[in-house]
Amino acid sequence: MKKNEKIYIAGHEGLLGSALMRTLKTAGYTNFVFATKAELDLRNQQMVENFFAAKKPDYVFLAAATVGGIKANNELPAQFLYDNLMIQTNVIHAAHNNKVKKILFIGSSCIYPRTCPQPMQPHHLLTGELEKTNEAYAIAKIAGIKMVQSYRKQYGDNFISCMPTNLYGPGDTFDAEKSHVIPALMLKIHHAHFENAKTVHLWGTGNALREFLYVDDCARALLFLMENFNGFDPINIGSGEEISICDLAQMIKKVVGYRGTIVFDQQLEGTPRKLLDCAPINNLGWNAHTSIHVGLKRTYEWYIGRLKNCGTKRIDDLRVI
Ligand SMILES: NC(=O)c1ccc[n+]([C@@H]2O[C@H](COP(=O)([O-])OP(=O)(O)OC[C@H]3O[C@@H](n4cnc5c(N)ncnc54)[C@H](OP(=O)(O)O)[C@@H]3O)[C@@H](O)[C@H]2O)c1
Repeated sequence: MKKNEKIYIAGHEGLLGSALMRTLKTAGYTNFVFATKAELDLRNQQMVENFFAAKKPDYVFLAAATVGGIKANNELPAQFLYDNLMIQTNVIHAAHNNKVKKILFIGSSCIYPRTCPQPMQPHHLLTGELEKTNEAYAIAKIAGIKMVQSYRKQYGDNFISCMPTNLYGPGDTFDAEKSHVIPALMLKIHHAHFENAKTVHLWGTGNALREFLYVDDCARALLFLMENFNGFDPINIGSGEEISICDLAQMIKKVVGYRGTIVFDQQLEGTPRKLLDCAPINNLGWNAHTSIHVGLKRTYEWYIGRLKNCGTKRIDDLRVI
């Protein structure tokens, strides 16, 4: 990918898309095309075809998707399935029609079977039942990976895919209903802290083990893959480190400065364990750099900065920022 070739980041305002933008600019890439969701709804096939025909990007990072935490996934399966199938189908097909040199489709570690052998490897895909709470999202993402592979197989397109683990960092969605696990925990503990609550109740048992990756590390991985990876199978992106939700909550408690007690309410427990095998990307030369402690601190500092910038005195008014 040459520094002046035209790059389209679909979803450039999202958590991962905005980190990717920072990374590409820092690395010296200069030629970008963008469209916000209001300007270009990627679920609309004609709009997507028109956009690609007019802009003619050379490289595409497909970081636009309907994404959410366990609650949103569980309650909105039709939306997660429809939106994601439409977005990825339209973008991948338009990329093919308009001779895009390479597209990187972004899958997710949630698409591995619920009781997948650990650490999870791409050959485990479709070998067992999916986690029920995010089945619709997973089915869409699996279809995206198969689509990329099929276009490579049938047309010889250099389309690749990756599967990042759970991401977090500046730019994340802090919303009680839609957040992923880290901002959801941070938000609840932050509110408990500022309300002087004695206890804070969290979903699940706290026993589930998860792997987290700081979003700027993931963005570096995406650039690395665009430059160095041309494989048929998807490639995992993770930190290689596991932490229980209970230990994570305790770390967040420290970062926030909360002194009360954390109680797990036993509801909505997802997949028991999810650790990616990242040997393939590590062997190619990419590694995660940011420790979970440093990443959590930066994320919380960013969140507090957003609150201060909004000039609020009432933290409750800022459930969504
Ligand atoms: N976050 C994670 O933990 C994680 C983990 C593994 C994989 N991934 C994958 O990484 C990618 C990026 O996720 P993210 O966490 O950055 O999500 P995000 O913060 O929600 O960003 C998604 C972006 O896509 C845009 N978008 C959604 N629907 C669209 C549409 N119909 N037309 C145009 N744009 C649309 C959103 O715009 P609006 O904000 O305007 O809706 C937003 O800018 C996704 O493919 C996701 O599956 C994420």
